[in-house]
Amino acid sequence: MHMRPDGIIIAIDGPAGAGKSTIARMLAERLGYIQIDTGAMYRAATFLLAREGIDLGDSTAVEHFCRNIDIRFESVSGRQVVRANGMDVTDQIRTPEMSLLTSRTSALKPVREALLKSQQQMGRKGGVVLEGRDIGTVVFPDAEMKFYLSASVEERARRRCEELTLKGEPVTLAETIADVAERDRQDSERDIAPLRQADDAILIDSSRLSIDEVLTRMAALCRTKIRTMELTQ
Ligand code: DC
Repeated sequence: MHMRPDGIIIAIDGPAGAGKSTIARMLAERLGYIQIDTGAMYRAATFLLAREGIDLGDSTAVEHFCRNIDIRFESVSGRQVVRANGMDVTDQIRTPEMSLLTSRTSALKPVREALLKSQQQMGRKGGVVLEGRDIGTVVFPDAEMKFYLSASVEERARRRCEELTLKGEPVTLAETIADVAERDRQDSERDIAPLRQADDAILIDSSRLSIDEVLTRMAALCRTKIRTMELTQ
């Protein structure tokens, strides 16, 4: 297998709240790779659809609209900013309402097709850590390294609850468990690119592991892979 120009592709898939974003960011930092948060791209597209008041049931309108969306990441003073058609939507896309709405829009074919193309474009040279639901199965089935990061529903809800409370958006644990379970259901039951572990992905259950333990394990596996590929060039 040939090395891509900028390194390998690392795919991290898994359900909401398993710690993918934190791990992807830290792993990318350690390896000097670029992080691509595909969930943020679905959220940003959802923000634009909602802002324009596009009827999600009208697939022609959705398709038409999706042809002209431009979502990109920028680094501003060390912070990753998400831009949707030029607007900074980094914070607005993180509300519980946006999370639930994104579960719906990400099941729509035109939305997935538009984002799939730009994700493949962004990652094809390698040197990237892509996180999402379908990276190892659909976006880059040929990724050199695939992880499936999971944790129990209760643990994932507890983490999300803590995160939102810290941000000044208090929610109850019971509410969050229900939200997480509902998103799991929507993400894994949809027809197109459902959440699923790729056959060749390494399963990591983070329920009882610290971020550091998960990261150390994943970074070691990635470094070994990179080294092996460099040696066989
Ligand atoms: O990872 P996240 O919570 O930011 O993802 C938001 C939503 O987008 C979630 O409902 C699943 C969906 N998503 C997807 O369908 N495919 C991806 N590759 C990434 C996210």
